Amino acid sequence: MPGASLLALHLPHAHRTAMSAPPDRIETERLWMRPTRAADAEATHYWQVDPEVVRFLGGIQHPTVESFRAFLERVEVKYDAYAAAGLPWVALVVFEKGVERPIGTALCKPAPEGEGDGRRDSEEIEIGWHLARQAWGRGFATELGRAMRDRAFELGGVPHVNAFVDRENTASARVAERCGLRRVEPSPRFYGGADRYRMTRAEWEARGGSGSG
Ligand SMILES: CC(C)(COP(=O)(O)OP(=O)(O)OC[C@H]1O[C@@H](n2cnc3c(N)ncnc32)[C@H](O)[C@@H]1OP(=O)(O)O)[C@@H](O)C(=O)NCCC(=O)NCCS
Repeated sequence: MPGASLLALHLPHAHRTAMSAPPDRIETERLWMRPTRAADAEATHYWQVDPEVVRFLGGIQHPTVESFRAFLERVEVKYDAYAAAGLPWVALVVFEKGVERPIGTALCKPAPEGEGDGRRDSEEIEIGWHLARQAWGRGFATELGRAMRDRAFELGGVPHVNAFVDRENTASARVAERCGLRRVEPSPRFYGGADRYRMTRAEWEARGGSGSG
């Protein structure tokens, strides 16, 4: 459940090797994605104020386009800093191919730990997904989740990938499972001990690696 608040940028040493700058565009069968920019505020605000979409994301955090734009400006700075450091972590705006209006967000990034101003990137990598309501029920979250999982293993050089999910968010738990992540013991370090789904590199390789289901 990659969350609403932004963290001070801290780059864990464990992930500094064998990386490349994020591409401008990632494509899957039915979707394409690119880094989120502050200029996306107007087009993407509509799902930030849908109570069903933000139910497990801390509720409506950005009631106005202006406050959302200020948030996205900080997102841009943070992810540009990852790219400048050669880290592959991304916050992407997602489009259905052939459709102009964006439909969601895809994330592959360090999981935060700590509270408030003390929140920092941890060495654990999480993947995440938010879709506008009209895009639910078509397998898009699973499609983008698998792309984020593959990115973490391919470019991030990590031993495992996590998804943190609110206990009541059964739709998101199903997405994690369809991406091949298994429910493991939660940790109080992350999102107050939210349900934790994880896939190891060995499990990813056994499943066929990149492009596998
Ligand atoms: C979590 C969320 C992204 C899940 O969306 P979703 O549409 O249920 O998930 P998927 O994109 O994987 O789609 C799966 C559904 O599409 C159906 N589907 C249709 N075509 C499909 C296809 N080609 N491939 C896979 N599934 C398909 C599946 O049957 C499944 O429906 P079901 O769960 O009713 O059986 C969405 O509920 C959401 O954005 N919620 C709000 C934000 C949020 O909570 N994010 C997660 C924070 S941890």
